Amino acid sequence: MTDCHGDGEGDRSPLELYEQLAAQGDEVRVLKRGKAEEADVAAAVQLLLKMKVNYKQLTGQDYKAGCPPSENSVAPDDRKAADGATSEDTVDPWNVSTDSAKGVDYDKLIVRFGSSKVDKELVDRIEKVSGQKPHHFLRRGIFFSHRDMHQVLDAYEKHKSFYLYTGRGPSSEAMHVGHLIPFIFTKWLQDVFDIPLVIQLTDDEKYLWKDLTLEECHRFAVENAKDIIACGFDVNKTFIFSDLEYMGASPEFYRNVVKVQKHVTFNQVKGIFGFTDSDCIGKISFPAIQAAPSFSSSFPQIFKGRKDIQCLIPCAIDQDPYFRMTRDVAPRIGYTKPALLHSTFFPALQGAQTKMSASDANTSIFLTDTPKQIKNKVNKHAFSGGKDTVEEHRKYGGNPDIDVAFMYLTFFLEDDEQLEKIRQDYLSGALLTGELKKLLIETLQPIISQHQERRKQVTAETVKEFMTPRPLNFNL
Ligand code: TYM
Repeated sequence: MTDCHGDGEGDRSPLELYEQLAAQGDEVRVLKRGKAEEADVAAAVQLLLKMKVNYKQLTGQDYKAGCPPSENSVAPDDRKAADGATSEDTVDPWNVSTDSAKGVDYDKLIVRFGSSKVDKELVDRIEKVSGQKPHHFLRRGIFFSHRDMHQVLDAYEKHKSFYLYTGRGPSSEAMHVGHLIPFIFTKWLQDVFDIPLVIQLTDDEKYLWKDLTLEECHRFAVENAKDIIACGFDVNKTFIFSDLEYMGASPEFYRNVVKVQKHVTFNQVKGIFGFTDSDCIGKISFPAIQAAPSFSSSFPQIFKGRKDIQCLIPCAIDQDPYFRMTRDVAPRIGYTKPALLHSTFFPALQGAQTKMSASDANTSIFLTDTPKQIKNKVNKHAFSGGKDTVEEHRKYGGNPDIDVAFMYLTFFLEDDEQLEKIRQDYLSGALLTGELKKLLIETLQPIISQHQERRKQVTAETVKEFMTPRPLNFNL
């Protein structure tokens, strides 16, 4: 991670840094208003975000326009941020971890990964272009980061359509609630923009990484496809494919895989993914397979051989390394870079220091869990930001920022006013931990039960229909 004090900002006082930040904010507004080059705006925004991170490290407070730092706003000596985060959060496709009970520092991650923040301007623009109220994942900053979203919207306004691509690595029969996040959001995007969607099931990836047979991985792919279909995707606009099936059936797809393989070196994937000499060669070449669906020519049955249809990938930010590589290689093989929308992580039950993960059953609520299991897991495992005794809690209030039940509600309780009231009541101590957990249980149980009902309706025939390469309803 970059040393945040490496740009000569380390010697500045909080007030000087505050003033610099305010000036940089003005600079960004001027550039945006003057419709400056996208790269210049992006660079100015990156600098602004970096300065905000530095400001928080120096003062222990978030920067707020119009609120200069108070005299005693100095971060603890060990340069940890006020929430306890160190500068080294780990976020990659296999591991997510942070020291902070609030979870990963996503502003820092934007700087580190070089993506852009989903700010109010972008959310307003999505609303204007789609004509729909933004999804609560956008309104609440759950989809917090992007690459090239403005470019997608510019083109869409000029009647140039785009397509969606997302995926799942089928490592087990049951998916967990966290896996729903990108699929719920992708369904919303499909509905509001009325565009095609391809969903990659990387059964090959899971065979290479896990102690599973090819048959098991493929069976999990089909089982997971049922959960994905149960999210409500339109069969006329959605193609779901297993790598183990589609790679062999589509010469165009395989050609794109090989093109990517030729243009990325071992050194590059070592740098991006941390592969070592003892990793099997399947792992080393796999990123090319996750890259290929980003190019419309991989799906001639849908895009009729066109190679210029822009792709937009909604996913959690753990998948970004694959797409940094893809975006780097795209222009070199004559293709458009895919755009991305990144989500934060749905935390593990035990706390936001890590994401919910299928490999640890106790950290997760599965889509197969019964209402009773959900209740028990939340009551027993969900990390609480409440105080130790009812008396203390009533007196000092709880901390929703580290409370897993509250965090889960931000993902699943759609009513903004109700959520804010819960937050205020918890902060003031009027709402106890047990009551907050009950609210979460009552919110989650029907969502999961309804999902299970919809999944039951998904027949083998339906799965086959979604997974058959075919034209989709899409006007080029
Ligand atoms: P996988 O199966 O690990 O995850 C599937 C999708 O779920 C997201 N995700 C989460 N989102 C929020 N909170 C969590 N706790 C959480 N855990 C997982 C992932 O970011 C992903 O979007 N290699 C991929 C499969 C893949 C893919 C893609 C994913 C292939 N092509 C294109 C996204 C986009 C994988 O193993 O995902």
